[in-house]
Amino acid sequence: MIDREEGLSLIGRGDFYETNIKFAIFSCSISVSESGKVRIFLEKGRSSMIENWTPRSWRSKPGTQIPTYPDLQKLIEVEEHLYRYPPLIFADEALKLRKELADVAERKAFLLQGGDCAESFYEHDTGMIYDFFRVFLQMSVILTFGAAKPVVRVGRIAGQFAKPRSKNMEMRDGVELPAYRGDIINGLEFNVESRIPDPERMEVGYRQSAATLNLLRAFALGGYANIENIHKWMLAFVESLPLEKRYETLKCRIAETMDFIHVLGVTSKINSGFQETAFFTSHEALLLGYEEAMTRIDSATGHWYATSAHMLWIGDRTRQLDHAHVEYCRGIQNPIGLKCGPSLSSDDLLRLIDVLNPENEGGRLTLIARFGYKSIEESLPKLVRAVEREGRKVIWSCDPMHGNTITENGYKTRSFDSIIREIKSFFMVHHSEGSYPGGIHIEMTGKNVTECTGGLHDLSVKDLALRYHTHCDPRLNASQALELALLVAGFLKDSRDSGSLRMVVNN
Ligand code: PEP
Ligand code: CO
Repeated sequence: MIDREEGLSLIGRGDFYETNIKFAIFSCSISVSESGKVRIFLEKGRSSMIENWTPRSWRSKPGTQIPTYPDLQKLIEVEEHLYRYPPLIFADEALKLRKELADVAERKAFLLQGGDCAESFYEHDTGMIYDFFRVFLQMSVILTFGAAKPVVRVGRIAGQFAKPRSKNMEMRDGVELPAYRGDIINGLEFNVESRIPDPERMEVGYRQSAATLNLLRAFALGGYANIENIHKWMLAFVESLPLEKRYETLKCRIAETMDFIHVLGVTSKINSGFQETAFFTSHEALLLGYEEAMTRIDSATGHWYATSAHMLWIGDRTRQLDHAHVEYCRGIQNPIGLKCGPSLSSDDLLRLIDVLNPENEGGRLTLIARFGYKSIEESLPKLVRAVEREGRKVIWSCDPMHGNTITENGYKTRSFDSIIREIKSFFMVHHSEGSYPGGIHIEMTGKNVTECTGGLHDLSVKDLALRYHTHCDPRLNASQALELALLVAGFLKDSRDSGSLRMVVNN
């Protein structure tokens, strides 16, 4: 039972186990379920590294946004299954991402993180994954031109299911039901049955993540994303752009460079490196029972890793210092994101950095600023100043989505203009503080949905009803996502060229 290198759980069923294997037990906890089943957890490892931490130490901390499952027996069974399932990612991959992010922290690369607000169990098909991957890759090529630096690609995909909610209950036509918390917890349908947290959904989430990741790996590594294909996609995209003056220079540069690369004969046949595209996955570390069951020890180093995704982030509603979500994340060695919203003080941020990145390593921690275009210029500088003053190595990334959500005609939406304004302010703040605007974090899809207003096609509030498909927050559609990439590439180029920000948009 205990001889599995990656294993960390021993499920006692009254059997007797004898072993000659020598290992150090750093912690042992025993729990008895309501049905009388005993679970013994032996945390083993060559070195524990993180003081007083185990994959389940979060359970002794207060926590918010944690679902209450009525069927505890089922919950235990599902968690037992998950403990035994293969990891979705490997420690080495998470480490590779950490190294790439260390380059971002040193201003040598730029981070693009994005995808659905919430993935859905019911919209899971090849087309969706393909469209997302293609648009995301195109965005990264556009940003590479703007930044003249490598772009680190991290999708909100293959596990982005659990959602924090501002209200525990939802009211419709006088009927009140528990809020929807993402497909991995309960159902979107507005009826009593569907809103009950169901542990079996965790297994469905795991399997869907595995299938999505499998296809993404095939796209990224199987030659689909090689330089020749990107050349074709980019030219088609550039040609389809409306003749907007502000994009002319960039359009020409992309087209010329892609042609140049092609003419030079830099093809995948002579350089196999071009056949592979690094792509990483991420999601919010919200459903801690699931994350705990997917946590494995890396036998080579004795370090613990979340194996549900390469990168996890802590949401703005669950980032309390002494609470469960911070406790879980401090012990895993994956790169971690931390959402920073208007209620975060500089002192609290510094304390969180101490806990989450005690070794002050670049690439470990990405601070994802999400203030809203109206308050970013007031709220962000003091945080940046405190972090700079204390010499903390972090990445600053901009989430221009979550502070800009409004409701129009009964639809949650965001205007393209406010999204761009927030990114522009983000760049300006970093420019005046001398810090590095290292990335963007957006909610987007490769489909032609109508969830955010504005953009080149000037979607109006009336258009929202046409194709409003999101399960949670409004996403940029393919065209809006590419337009955003073009604008951000302009910001990046401006700050690179002149050292001052002219900014291509005059909002
Ligand atoms: C999210 O990223 O989907 C989210 C809920 O963000 P935040 O925690 O910043 O509100
Ligand atoms: Co969201």
